[in-house]
Amino acid sequence: MKSFAAVAAFAAAVLATPTPTTPELAPRASASLEPITVKGNAFFKGTSRFYMRGVDWQPGGSSNLVDPLADTALCTRDIANFKTLGLNTVRIYTVDNTANHDTCMGLLADAGIYLVLDVNSPLYSINRAKPGPSYNAVYLQNIFATIDAFAKYSNTLAFFSGNEVINDDLTTNCAPYVKAVTRDMRQYLGSRGYRQIPVGYSAADVNSNRLEMAQYMNCGSDDERSDFFAFNDYSWCDPSSFTTSGWDQKVKNFTGYGLPLFLSEYGCNTNARQFEEVTSLYSTQMTPVYSGGLVYEYSEEGSKYGLVQISGSTAKPLADFTALQSAFSKTANPSGDGGYNSTGGASNCPKKSANWDVADDSLPAIPSAAAAFMKSGAGTGVGLQGKGSQNSGGTSTGTAAPGSGSVTAVASGTSASATKSSASSLQGSMNFQPMIVSGLVVAFTFVGAALL
Ligand SMILES: *[C@@H]1O[C@H](CO)[C@@H](O)[C@H](O)[C@H]1NC(C)=O
Ligand SMILES: *[C@@H]1O[C@H](CO)[C@@H](O)[C@H](O)[C@H]1NC(C)=O
Repeated sequence: MKSFAAVAAFAAAVLATPTPTTPELAPRASASLEPITVKGNAFFKGTSRFYMRGVDWQPGGSSNLVDPLADTALCTRDIANFKTLGLNTVRIYTVDNTANHDTCMGLLADAGIYLVLDVNSPLYSINRAKPGPSYNAVYLQNIFATIDAFAKYSNTLAFFSGNEVINDDLTTNCAPYVKAVTRDMRQYLGSRGYRQIPVGYSAADVNSNRLEMAQYMNCGSDDERSDFFAFNDYSWCDPSSFTTSGWDQKVKNFTGYGLPLFLSEYGCNTNARQFEEVTSLYSTQMTPVYSGGLVYEYSEEGSKYGLVQISGSTAKPLADFTALQSAFSKTANPSGDGGYNSTGGASNCPKKSANWDVADDSLPAIPSAAAAFMKSGAGTGVGLQGKGSQNSGGTSTGTAAPGSGSVTAVASGTSASATKSSASSLQGSMNFQPMIVSGLVVAFTFVGAALL
C-alpha cells in the first residue's frame, strides 16, 4: 500500500510537471496535422505536394471485423510498425462509428499519419446485385454518422464512398448509385459545416471499365463530381518494370484527367514481393498523374498479402515488411511539385457501350428521409452491429436535378415531382432524363410507389 501510494504520488508529480519526458505516460489525444487539400490533379500539404505512402489496415479482415482505432493497445502496437515502415497514410475499410477514436487518431497524428476511411460496412453498403433498393435513407444515415465521427480530425485525409462495388462490366449499372452516394457525402460535409474532406471511390482492378468509371465520377455538374479517384492495381508483379506492368499505359490513359489519382491497393504477390514498383510510383514516370498509393495489406489474413503476422497481442514483421521498409527508405519523392497538372477540371461522361451500361449522367435523387439529415444531422450510427440496410426501404423516388447536391440547395430534389418544381424554380428548364438503366426505371418507380 505504502509503495503504491508513493508511486501514485510520484506519477502525479510527474504528470503535473510539463517536462519533455512525460508524453510517453499517456497517449495524447489532441495532436493535429495540417489537413491535406486538393489542387489540380494532386494532393497538397500546405504548399508541398503530398504523396500517399500507405498500407491498408484491417487486422482481422472482413470475417472478424475489428475497429483498429477503437483499441489503444492495438493501435499503439501497429503505429510503431507504421513508423518503422515510414508511412504517412493508412486506409481502414470499416470502423465502429459508435466508438471513441480520439486517442488512436491522436497517436496517428503524432506519428504524422493520415487516415483514408471507407464509410461502408458489409451490411451497410450498396448491393451490386440490387443497387436501387440499397441506396436508401437507413444506409445514408449510417454512413453520415461515420462522417460525424471522423470529420473533426485534422488527419482524416479522405473518405471512400464505395469500394469495388463494380467488379465487372455487368455491374457498371451500379455507377449512378456510387456517384449519388459520393454526391450526398460531399453535400453532408458542406451542409454540416465540416471541413471539405475529399470524397471519392475506390475501383476494383478491372481494365475494361476503369477509365470509364474515372471519367464518370468526374463528369457532370460540380456537386456530382468527386474530389479524387482511386483504383486497386495488382499488375506489377516483381520482377517487372514500368512498361512490363502496363503502368506506362495507365499514365498515358489518365494524362489530362482532372482529379488526383492514387492506388488504393497494390502489391501483387504472385512472386516474392520486393516492392520494386515503389521506385516507379514515386518517380516522375508516375507523379505527373499519380499521388502514391496504399499497399495491401498490413496484416496477414490468410491470402499471403500480409506484412505482419498477428498472434494474440503481438504483430511480427514478415519478409514483406522488411522488403517494403527497404523500398520506401531508398525512394525519395521527386523534387518540386512532381510535374502535377494544376488545371484540373471535369471529364466528359463516357458513352454507353458493351463495357459501360450507363446511358447518361442523370443520378437518383437523394431519398427524402436522408435529405433531412443535411439539416438535422444523422444522429447515432449502428456501429459494427445492426440489421443491415440493403432492404430497409426509404429509397430514392426520382431523378436528381443537376445542382441538387450543392450545399446551397440543401434538401432540394427529393422526389420526381418535388425535383421538377424545385428545379424549375431554381434553374429554369431542366432536362429530365429517364432513369439511367432501362429496367431499373421500373424497379425504381415501383419501389418508390410501394413506399408511398
Ligand atoms: C486504357 O484505356 C483503354 C480505353 O478505355 C482501355 O481499353 C485499356 O485497357 C486501358 N489500359 C489500361 C492499362 O488501363
Ligand atoms: C491538364 O489538365 C487539363 C484539364 O484536365 C487538361 O485539359 C490538360 O490537357 C492537362 N495537361 C497535361 C499536360 O496533362
